[in-house]
This record gives sequence, C-alpha cells and structure tokens, in this order.
Amino acid sequence: MKAIVWTGYGSPDVLQLREVAKPAPKANELLVKIRATTVTTGDCEMRNLRFPYWIRLPMRAFIGLRKPTRITIPGNYLAGEIEAVGADVTRFQVGDQIFSTTLFGFSAYAEYTCVPENGAIAIKPATVSYEEAAPVGLGGLEALHFLRIAAVQPGEKVLINGAGGSIGTYGIQIAKYFGAEVTAVDSGEKLAKLRDVGADQVIDYTQEDFTKNGQRYDVIFDIIGKSPFAASVRSLNPGGRYLIANPTGPLQFVRGKWASRQSDKKVLFEMTSPTAKDLAFLAELMAAGKLRTVIDRSYSLAQIPDAHRYVEAGQKVGNVTVTIEHAS
Ligand SMILES: NC(=O)c1ccc[n+]([C@@H]2O[C@H](COP(=O)([O-])OP(=O)(O)OC[C@H]3O[C@@H](n4cnc5c(N)ncnc54)[C@H](OP(=O)(O)O)[C@@H]3O)[C@@H](O)[C@H]2O)c1
Repeated sequence: MKAIVWTGYGSPDVLQLREVAKPAPKANELLVKIRATTVTTGDCEMRNLRFPYWIRLPMRAFIGLRKPTRITIPGNYLAGEIEAVGADVTRFQVGDQIFSTTLFGFSAYAEYTCVPENGAIAIKPATVSYEEAAPVGLGGLEALHFLRIAAVQPGEKVLINGAGGSIGTYGIQIAKYFGAEVTAVDSGEKLAKLRDVGADQVIDYTQEDFTKNGQRYDVIFDIIGKSPFAASVRSLNPGGRYLIANPTGPLQFVRGKWASRQSDKKVLFEMTSPTAKDLAFLAELMAAGKLRTVIDRSYSLAQIPDAHRYVEAGQKVGNVTVTIEHAS
C-alpha cells in the first residue's frame, strides 16, 4: 500500500510517499481502508518537534530519539471503511463506515491502518462525507471536552481565542449548541466564516485585545495558549472558567492552581481523553445538522507535504483534509 513515511524531524520534505507493507489486523483490531484524513497544526508541530521544551523530550522518547523510528507513518485522524476484522471483534463489521482518532497509534497518512475496536471509533453518519468526518476526531473532540469541563450553561458568554482553526470552528458550534452567546477571536480575514458558523460577536486580535475592551465572560476558552494569563482571569465574571488547551509550561499550572484558590474563578487545563462515546455524540450532532466541518482545502495523499506547508502558513480556516483514492 501507499503511505507517507516520516523520515526525520524537520521541514515537510521529511514526509515521503512510499510503498509499505499493508497491515493485518490482530484479533481485537479493525483493518480500515482509509478514505480521508486531515493535516492539523498539531501534525506540523509534531513533524518538526516545535513544542515547548517540557514536551519535546517525552515526544522524542516516544517517537524516536534522533528520527522517527517507533512511529514511522504520521497522522492521527481518519475516516474510512472497515475492510476486515480480527477474530475477537464484536462491535463492528466489514463494510461499516467509521471515523476515528488513532491517537498515539498514528498511521492515518496511509491507504490502510489497523485500529483496536475499543478505541475512539464511531459510525460515520451516511449524510456526512469522509472528508467532513475525519477532522472531528481532533477539533470536535477537543472542543467538546473543554466546553464540557467548563459546564457551559445556556445564556452564558463564551469567548473562544484562536477560533478560526479546527478546534475553534467546532467549538463555536458546540458552545452555541449548549446555548451560549459566543465571541470568536482570530485574525480579520477569518472572521466572516466564524460568523457564518454561528459566532455572535467576533474580534480581530490584530486590532483589539479582548482583555482590554471592558467586556466580561463566563468562559474564556484559549485554544492556542496566547491569551495573557492575569488579564484573562480578570476578564471573567464571578464563577468564570478559563480553559487553557495549550499550556505554555509548568509555571502556568502553578499560576492556574493559585488563581483557582484565590477566587471562585477556575483555571482548567485537563487533557482530552478521546472516547467512542463522545465521537458518537458528535456524529449525532452532525447527522442532525447541528455540527458541520469547515473545510478550507483538500489534498491527495501524495500532496501531504504541500498540505503541511499550507497549514504552517497559518492561513487555513477550519480544516485541511486529505482525500485518499484507491485503485479498486
Ligand atoms: N490540549 C490538547 O490536548 C491539544 C490537542 C490538539 C491540539 N492542540 C493544540 O491546540 C492548538 C490549536 O489547534 P487547532 O488545530 O485548532 O489550530 P489551528 O487550526 O492552527 O487554529 C489556531 C487559530 O489560532 C489563530 N491564532 C494565532 N495566534 C492567535 C492569537 N494571538 N490570538 C488569537 N488567535 C490566534 C490562528 O490564526 P492566525 O494564524 O491567522 O493568527 C488560527 O486560526 C495547536 O497548537 C495544537 O497543537 C492541543
């Protein structure tokens, strides 16, 4: 089969289209014929290890110290069709159309991969394309996770910082589904699209600092970890929650714990733990027309290095998807 092989840490040139062995499912696994995947900002950060120092070393230990050796095919999110199942599989059958996050199994930039049946996998609604389903395993799950731990209530004011990307465009819609009034913050050219998916107010961060405009919010969801800490906490209403999806370092955890003790405001960091149940919930929202995937561009498997270049340029709104064609 064809796959994108990760040959080193560095520029998108380290990603090379190669012929590799097609995997065979173990007893508890599904063999998935992948129809679509997505290239995310996280994939680009992983490719060149552009992480804070405290994450870089564990990542190298997991993927390969000098170059990727334990993980050789990148990609964490996929949608496709089950081609074969292992002997012990009971939840799925051949022909099911599913979407999934492979998490630390990676291997989604390929024609086929194997995933354990008890992983974060859900049936794709028939009305949703593979390209629309694949990115939900990142943006949809992350947004749902954080907005749930904030226990967003109807009528609350939610501000989403970095709202123009994958997590943000799903986050706007999920916060609206929970009944919130949503303010989306991103760069100017993305704001019309953010209104289109449901944002009530938009702020261009290059023109305005949301912590200095006199507004107060019940929830501030900082997806990219660029909001000023103290000023953001001050911009919360009493009982407000500050969600930090991309913590900058251990000091922020300490400040967060301290700030949460000093008042009734909460600073929340908790990592996402993707589940099949949450993916199924998001599938229901999509099937009901309450959640849609914003697709900026789509590429082929061979064009994944170009997709990385485009994502890294920072211009995408929502998601960049990859359509995987099969000869038969
Ligand atoms: N917590 C977790 O477990 C977890 C999981 C997955 C991903 N992540 C991380 O979360 C981050 C976001 O993910 P994503 O896929 O949604 O990213 P994305 O698609 O790149 O979206 C990020 C958005 O933030 C905007 N932005 C950049 N600087 C900003 C600023 N100072 N103020 C406001 N907006 C700004 C970007 O727009 P411009 O470029 O136009 O400024 C872009 O639209 C990534 O770094 C990813 O690695 C965390």
